[in-house]
Amino acid sequence: MEGPRALHRPLSLLLLTPLCLLLVGASGPPHLTHQGPDEEAMSIQGVRGGSVELACGSGLAPLVVFWSFTPLGLLTPRPVAVTNGAESKVEAGASALGAVSLRNSSLVLRELREGARGHFLCQALHAAGGQLHTTYSYFALAVLVPVSKPRVRLSDLSPVEGTSVVATCAVREGTEPVTFAWQHRAPQGQEEELVEVTERWLRLDPVNRTDLGWYICSAHNAVSRMSSDGAFLDVIYGPDNPVISVEPLGFSEEGFWAKEREEVTLSCLAGSNPPSHYVWLRDHTQAHTGPVYTIASATRAHTGLYTCLARNSRLDTRTQASARLTIYYPPEGQPSCAVLPNLGAVTLVCTWPGGLPAAQLQWEGPQGAGPTALNNVTWSQPAAHLPNGSVFVCAGQHPALALPAFCRITLWDPLQSPTCWTTATVEDQFIMLSCEWPGGQPPALLSWLDGLQQPLDGSSPSLAVHLLQAQEDLAGQEFTCRGTHPLRVPDPHCRLQLEAPQLSVAQSRVSVLEGGEAWLGCALLGGMPPARLLWLGPQRRQVEGGTSGFTLHPEGAQLHLRIRDADPARHRGAYRCVARNALGSSSRSVLLEVQRYPAPPNVTIRRLTYGRHRREVQLRWAVEGPGNLTGFLVQRRASVPSPEAGAWETAARDIEPESRGRKLGGLDPGVRYAFRVLALNHHTAGHPSEVKTPADPPFSAYPAVLGAAGTGVVVATVASLLVFQYAARHPETFPCIEPPPTNPGSDPAQELTDAPVNVTITVTATP
Ligand SMILES: *[C@@H]1O[C@H](CO)[C@@H](O)[C@H](O)[C@H]1NC(C)=O
Ligand SMILES: *[C@@H]1O[C@H](CO)[C@@H](O)[C@H](O)[C@H]1NC(C)=O
Ligand SMILES: *[C@@H]1O[C@H](CO)[C@@H](O)[C@H](O)[C@H]1NC(C)=O
Ligand SMILES: *[C@@H]1O[C@H](CO)[C@@H](O)[C@H](O)[C@H]1NC(C)=O
Ligand SMILES: *[C@@H]1O[C@H](CO)[C@@H](O)[C@H](O)[C@H]1NC(C)=O
Ligand SMILES: *[C@@H]1O[C@H](CO)[C@@H](O)[C@H](O)[C@H]1NC(C)=O
Repeated sequence: MEGPRALHRPLSLLLLTPLCLLLVGASGPPHLTHQGPDEEAMSIQGVRGGSVELACGSGLAPLVVFWSFTPLGLLTPRPVAVTNGAESKVEAGASALGAVSLRNSSLVLRELREGARGHFLCQALHAAGGQLHTTYSYFALAVLVPVSKPRVRLSDLSPVEGTSVVATCAVREGTEPVTFAWQHRAPQGQEEELVEVTERWLRLDPVNRTDLGWYICSAHNAVSRMSSDGAFLDVIYGPDNPVISVEPLGFSEEGFWAKEREEVTLSCLAGSNPPSHYVWLRDHTQAHTGPVYTIASATRAHTGLYTCLARNSRLDTRTQASARLTIYYPPEGQPSCAVLPNLGAVTLVCTWPGGLPAAQLQWEGPQGAGPTALNNVTWSQPAAHLPNGSVFVCAGQHPALALPAFCRITLWDPLQSPTCWTTATVEDQFIMLSCEWPGGQPPALLSWLDGLQQPLDGSSPSLAVHLLQAQEDLAGQEFTCRGTHPLRVPDPHCRLQLEAPQLSVAQSRVSVLEGGEAWLGCALLGGMPPARLLWLGPQRRQVEGGTSGFTLHPEGAQLHLRIRDADPARHRGAYRCVARNALGSSSRSVLLEVQRYPAPPNVTIRRLTYGRHRREVQLRWAVEGPGNLTGFLVQRRASVPSPEAGAWETAARDIEPESRGRKLGGLDPGVRYAFRVLALNHHTAGHPSEVKTPADPPFSAYPAVLGAAGTGVVVATVASLLVFQYAARHPETFPCIEPPPTNPGSDPAQELTDAPVNVTITVTATP
């Protein structure tokens, strides 16, 4: 143990510090070889917090190793550690360098601190060959510091576009040189390395909206690289000029268009940070707030100028843009097709008015497409080679309609030919020529021509009418109606000739027995316009059907007059059938004779006596001379001498031709009666018998009274007969002296005023 102890002193001297008192395990004699400390120091880098190991000398195990340290910039070394191989000692103050330890002769520095920057010297004492050698190892230790996490500082967090901003990357520590890198991340996420910037500062001048976003800087030095958190740069800008768009999109000449009843969305976009506030105006009136203005169901009233106002609330700046929106609507219904009657050519017209914009119309025919136009389109083409039934279609297209609308027209030829007729109007003052040819597409054109084939009027479709003033000299004139139709060659026509009426009667003389039925016939033979027939009676007055036994029977062009229960007094005479039209009239007469039956035989009263109480009489008569009879009639009259008396009344009728007597009751005993009897042959009455008054039955108690009364009766009878005779000759002054109205039609005795059965005969019969 001598050796190490002996060595101790020189070591201590050498180090100038009495540190190493415990020299343990030194082996062999020291071999002092001086290797000068002037040698270049070995440069070693360590990182703060890391560790370095400084190896001392050669591989030979030294007797003593002594480590000292001279901090950077100082000259005085400080002891750090010492070892003799068995024992080692680390200076307490060495903790400023980190966690210091020795491993054999090497100095191990862990948890390196910045204070370890400087020079380390290792002095080793070896014993070799009986000599002590000293070796020195010299180290220059650099302690590097990693960069700290940088922070980005913005000179203005929300600059207005156009101003300038500086972003600074702040690093608290880190061994220089430190280099920087900048990264920008837009809000939408795309990341961008700003490669050209390697400085601590990033200058954005002028700043614009593309600069908005997150800024991240990273710093690095020889030891480490660190990146900052992002700092957000909120660039304030806008609003830009708004851009208006419309959904569904349709561009018109003036702006946008949309269909009626469709949902229309107007969108406005004006770039701005913070985002714009939007206000929509329709024709300068506020209509909506917000960027999207939806019209749920567009109407025509939505057509107008739409203005979008955009406002940046932060900057209080505004912009605006306008767009015209037009609501399109199709015309109502369907296009309508028509064809104009046009000589020799077919002129097709398709119209579909209304709508916005006007509908586009196009014709299409059997030979291909025709013209096209807006609103209405007309197509004229020669008709010559068009077959019957040619179809033409007009298609109408409109932007507001998904499918076109159609109308079609089929040209066809009316099969028949024109028909002509004429009528008179306004009480025969005018004659109307009519001509008709119905049907056809286009309708046929008709025109009236005179006898020289000169047109009288223009032409008109389907029906042509020409009015003429009625004049007799028109009789015999001919008129033609010509029809034209584009599909018909040659032109068909019809003709008519005006003529005065002509007629004929069935018989010019008609004879009928009294009470019978007569027919007077009349037929129209011609006349244009068609004539009317009528009958004039014997009094030259028009016969009305249903009166006085007349009935009229029209049958086509005939008019029959039927006379029932022919009566010579009322019906006998000359009748006239008259035909009239606007050109004149003609007539024929027919004589009607009403024949009486042959006169019945004369009658004489054989016996006339009172019955009991003078309330009835018994009458007996006889027939004298030739003649047919169908019955008898008994008349009576009161023989009271007064002017009103004397009218004959029927006492009994319908007495069978075989009878020759009758009992007649219902008499007033206070009245004297006269009686007479007439024979009848159908409607014809014969001469009345002589007038007789009843006689009392034989053995009567009152002959004197009766005689006186009988004289009175005769006088009264004569007087009243004279009055009756006068009245018969002057009926106008004695309207009331008519036969009593008891069944006038069936009492032939009342006809006794008639000439052949003369009443005056009665006077001569008076005794
Ligand atoms: C120290 O040295 C001895 C002998 O020279 C050797 O055996 C041992 O491994 C060394 N220790 C270290 C930690 O190097
Ligand atoms: C914003 O600035 C960048 C670079 O400074 C430039 O490239 C870009 O064109 C600018 N954009 C606008 C909209 O001014
Ligand atoms: C058809 O169009 C023409 C102009 O092209 C116009 O003059 C005419 O009035 C129109 N007719 C109808 C019925 O709309
Ligand atoms: C033309 O056709 C129509 C129907 O399509 C037909 O009624 C008419 O009679 C035809 N005309 C002629 C002249 O055949
Ligand atoms: C019938 O009587 C009338 C007059 O009473 C007379 O004129 C006529 O000759 C008579 N006829 C016959 C056939 O006796
Ligand atoms: C009476 O009538 C019959 C037939 O009705 C006729 O044959 C006869 O000649 C008539 N006698 C007289 C006198 O007219």
